[in-house]
Amino acid sequence: MNSLLQVLKSRFGTPTWDADRITDEWFRAHFHYAADVVRQWLGEPLDLTQAKVLNFGCGDGITDLALVLRHGATSIHGVDIRQEYAKLPRIAKEQLGLRRVPAALSFETIVPSAPLAGRMQVDGMFSWSTFEHVQRDQLLPILSDLHACLRPGGKFFLQIEPLYYSPYGSHLRRYNEQPWHHLLETEDALWRGIEAHQGPIAAEETDFGFADFGVEGYKKFVFNEYLALNRLTADELVEITQQAGFQLLREERRQVDTPIPEALQGRYPEAQLRTNEIFLLLGA
Ligand SMILES: C[S@@+](CC[C@H](N)C(=O)[O-])C[C@H]1O[C@@H](n2cnc3c(N)ncnc32)[C@H](O)[C@@H]1O
Repeated sequence: MNSLLQVLKSRFGTPTWDADRITDEWFRAHFHYAADVVRQWLGEPLDLTQAKVLNFGCGDGITDLALVLRHGATSIHGVDIRQEYAKLPRIAKEQLGLRRVPAALSFETIVPSAPLAGRMQVDGMFSWSTFEHVQRDQLLPILSDLHACLRPGGKFFLQIEPLYYSPYGSHLRRYNEQPWHHLLETEDALWRGIEAHQGPIAAEETDFGFADFGVEGYKKFVFNEYLALNRLTADELVEITQQAGFQLLREERRQVDTPIPEALQGRYPEAQLRTNEIFLLLGA
């Protein structure tokens, strides 16, 4: 092949990649599991090969990449207040041997709650493990803005896991295996336990930000994320999406059967303690 043809192929040809190269468990969980769930929920009512899709809180963009490479999506725009997606070209090369991120993907850093409506109209949107991190007073404005971005008949798949009141709703399981530790221990005791933690943390819970922070910095980052959680319940989420104008088309709540410690019985409704994940399909 002459060199011009090679250059054109590498820039514009079908990207080649190999999922057998994946060694990172965080990457694997997003490239396979998360992308498959999004495809099932959003790809049934919408044709992902035609739809313009927005991912709210895209993080490192691995799920978006998988939707393009594995499920034929042709237009995904990821927005996030952080810029983890800037790592995608490097990690996709490492984990898949992918030489360039497909042009079907675009990413953008946004200011928290800055409106997107008016400059964006999409057929579908999704959000994965993000809405528990949005400040409570920004939930309704953001959801109303997303509603305004969705074309009539469009669909929004929203997932949260783990919900705050579930056994590991603190997002601190990587440092503390005791179920409901955040509802049982004081903030100080929780932090001391994390500070004292030695040794590796679960690979599937170690995102690509870990390397930037280092072991001790990551502890602080994760604990601050815990403090900032909005503590939304499944019922509150459903209610607020409806206030924002969405129609609830489908819902699934997943529950755990972990025995509830005596200290929590009667303090919180049992369903609130047991519901660790929610999936919503919303209509515009
Ligand atoms: C737990 S991460 C999930 C990221 C990605 N969806 C994933 O599955 O890996 C939560 C993400 O929500 C983003 N986020 C938090 N508040 C946000 C907001 N107001 N607007 C947009 N993104 C937000 C964070 O920056 C973070 O990337």
